[in-house]
Amino acid sequence: MKTYTVAVIPGDGIGVDVTKAAWQVLEKSAQKHGIHLQPSWFPWSCDYYLKHGMMMPKEGIAILKQFNAILLGAVGWPAQVPDNVSLHGLLLPIRQQFDLFANVRPHRLLRGVQGPLREAAFDILCIRENTEGEYSGAGGRIHQGTPQEVAVETSIFTRHGVERILRFGFEAARKRQKRLASVTKSNAQKYTMVMWDEITDTLAAEYPDVAVTRYHIDAMAARFVMHPQTLDVVVASNLFGDILTDLGAAIQGGLGYAASANLNPDPAFPSMFEPVHGSAPDIAGKNIANPIAAIWSGALMLEHLGETSAANDIMQAVERVTAEGLGNQALSTDALTTAILHQL
Ligand code: NAD
Ligand code: IPM
Ligand code: MN
Repeated sequence: MKTYTVAVIPGDGIGVDVTKAAWQVLEKSAQKHGIHLQPSWFPWSCDYYLKHGMMMPKEGIAILKQFNAILLGAVGWPAQVPDNVSLHGLLLPIRQQFDLFANVRPHRLLRGVQGPLREAAFDILCIRENTEGEYSGAGGRIHQGTPQEVAVETSIFTRHGVERILRFGFEAARKRQKRLASVTKSNAQKYTMVMWDEITDTLAAEYPDVAVTRYHIDAMAARFVMHPQTLDVVVASNLFGDILTDLGAAIQGGLGYAASANLNPDPAFPSMFEPVHGSAPDIAGKNIANPIAAIWSGALMLEHLGETSAANDIMQAVERVTAEGLGNQALSTDALTTAILHQL
């Protein structure tokens, strides 16, 4: 039997509940399709930080490196640990150290789900740069706490980083509707985003079969709401992509529907799969978090591992449940998970 090792990191808040749900669904689909998912559960989280003074052990990255994939819930418990400490201690180093440069986030309305828009027929694949740009972490503060304080945080865009994410987008567009939207802000950001545009143009010449349109991030935000059906593949920088994909989640019906894959196409590194949403402290512990984003992320993991029919099976089960209108009924996390398991 084909076996895949998976590092499971539920994390904080609703991350714990939705990861448990996703794992049940993954196991069931794996069983049906004759594959074995071998999990190792890691308690790395804000609780772990409060006990050990770090979000994961020093050798955490080396430990994770041994796995075929990582399934993550959500990280962050701002009431007890500052977000910059928790995220820079766990989620962001995983993305950066395994060079998971493509953060792929699909946005489409599942059958039966009532989104906030009149237009239901959108199918957007957002591809977010995931290792550099506005998240490079280059900067510092001087004269801290004094009136002379200065804080700098430098966006770093490399030709290598920009070219590979755009190329990833062009390749994805080729397999879809052959339309690529490049998200820019070169009217205001005259170095990084002008380079981004130039690289977009160079690649556009290499992919004459793909129709390319450039949109400034502000106009793109409006387009997500007004004309989402005009979009196919959307490629954006780290921060622009972060913001756009919460908007993408909103038009899908809420944060509980948006899945994501953090990919490095090199199988020597474990790619990481997680919902777009965070730990949602406002609803944590209430058994009301929507598990579909996490379950869908699990399906993206199976797809990445080459288990396409097991992945499709999960999505079909999810859509049979949403088609019955169950997504709109404020069901508990457990009840929705049980319904999906039942369909599987
Ligand atoms: P959030 O995504 O946790 O929550 C935003 C809103 O969406 C909240 O009202 C929440 O209740 C709702 N929501 C989120 N997921 C839901 C689900 N599955 N079902 C139903 N409703 C859902 O964003 P936030 O409040 O800005 O952040 C909370 C914490 O999570 C912070 O510590 C933040 O840094 C962290 N965070 C982590 C990740 C991650 O680990 N990938 C992502 C985003 C935020
Ligand atoms: C996401 C999250 C993270 C990000 C945070 C928690 C650092 O919002 O995955 O979208 O900004 O990338
Ligand atoms: Mn985000």
